[in-house]
Amino acid sequence: MATITFANTKGGAGKTTAVLLLSTELARRGYRVTILDADPQHWISRWHEISGPVPNISVIDFVTTTSLPIHLKEEKDKADYFIIDLPGARDTLLATAIGLSDHVLVPIQGCAMDARGGAQVLELLHCLAQRAGIRIAHSVVLTRVNPLVTTRALQTVKDLLSERQVSVLETAIVERAAFRDIFDCGGTLETMHPSRVSNLDKAQENACAFAEEMMRIVPVRLTASASSLGYDPIRSAA
Ligand SMILES: Nc1ncnc2c1ncn2[C@@H]1O[C@H](COP(=O)(O)OP(=O)(O)OP(=O)(O)O)[C@@H](O)[C@H]1O
Ligand SMILES: [Mg+2]
Repeated sequence: MATITFANTKGGAGKTTAVLLLSTELARRGYRVTILDADPQHWISRWHEISGPVPNISVIDFVTTTSLPIHLKEEKDKADYFIIDLPGARDTLLATAIGLSDHVLVPIQGCAMDARGGAQVLELLHCLAQRAGIRIAHSVVLTRVNPLVTTRALQTVKDLLSERQVSVLETAIVERAAFRDIFDCGGTLETMHPSRVSNLDKAQENACAFAEEMMRIVPVRLTASASSLGYDPIRSAA
């Protein structure tokens, strides 16, 4: 079992979108995913409502600083991955969620490079390590990247962050209509119709690469249902 928190104190960085992409991709591979929705806009819970039951996905709504540790404890045998969607705020919930995570992902918009909200989370992680000796693995994922942006421009951003010893995922989340539409239509990228959404295949490839990278970084032992789906075994460190 592993807990992954998406955190950026700046609103609109792409946290909720990334949460949904990762969760649905992990679920498709047979992992049991519980999403803890602490976003005051409840986008994930609304998506879950309009989608109906999605195999391997459970959503817990109205997560607070007090309820978060209780949910993690009570649900620990029911989930392979807990994915936490935080509000775009710097508050006690942020500190609590970070403290309970195996990995913190900081989505930062690759195009505008408006990294201030991300920097606050990185500072908090640094502070926990320096002052309390609590080291929580973390990475930045670049989000809403323009599909036409050159590899070179993106590499510059990655180099800049790695100069500051911040690890950046190889896969950036691209700006795609499918990633917006999924919240209106419900379901997953697999259940969307290619004739209704432009570049659905590219969106699926992107989400798949993102999830595979996260599965390598935060591996969880395969459940029976995942192996029966025929995916490659993931080496477990859990
Ligand atoms: N990769 C993407 N492609 C297309 N649209 C995106 C992408 N990522 C985010 N968006 C859009 O940007 C807006 C903000 O994204 P999202 O809700 O995921 O951010 P957030 O960090 O969760 O925001 P908040 O802090 O308000 O909870 C939404 O309208 C969403 O549909
Ligand atoms: Mg959100």
